[in-house]
Amino acid sequence: MRKEIRFTLNEKAVTLEVEGDRRLLWVLRTDLGLTGAKYGCGEGRCGACTVLVDDAAVRSCTYSIARAAGRHVTTIEGLATDGELHPVQSAFVAEGAVQCGFCTPGLILSAVSLLRRRPHPTEEEVRQGLDQNLCRCGAHLRIVRAVQAAGEEMARHAEGGTGR
Ligand code: FES
Ligand code: FES
Repeated sequence: MRKEIRFTLNEKAVTLEVEGDRRLLWVLRTDLGLTGAKYGCGEGRCGACTVLVDDAAVRSCTYSIARAAGRHVTTIEGLATDGELHPVQSAFVAEGAVQCGFCTPGLILSAVSLLRRRPHPTEEEVRQGLDQNLCRCGAHLRIVRAVQAAGEEMARHAEGGTGR
């Protein structure tokens, strides 16, 4: 059944008339033209479609749009602010943690969620926190380094009052 859904997407209010059981990934990619969240397995197993709903990393391929009502959804397109990359994005670039890039948007959003809960994760905590995001290129070590470096950078921003 179609319903009106209101939510915040990348800091902008959105109102859609949509089937309530339609999955968030297809609303983002097909209805709204935001293709940063990737379609990998479509079954909640690879993490390529990960976005933030409030502070939680969710797999948008299995997340119904009705559940997003009243919430803040952040996709990779909304992570940079004022043309400045988010510290996790910058760290992925600096550490060379991107190969083909297919997993990267989902990994970055999972990392942001992890660092909001756990600002200084150990290597093991990073691996556990990102274990639902598969990288077929095997960039794991660089990804771990990038997330830890981003955590340090975000902590510095927070101390300076500019944390994100
Ligand atoms: Fe959503 Fe694989 S596309 S988990
Ligand atoms: Fe290619 Fe991860 S960089 S899948």
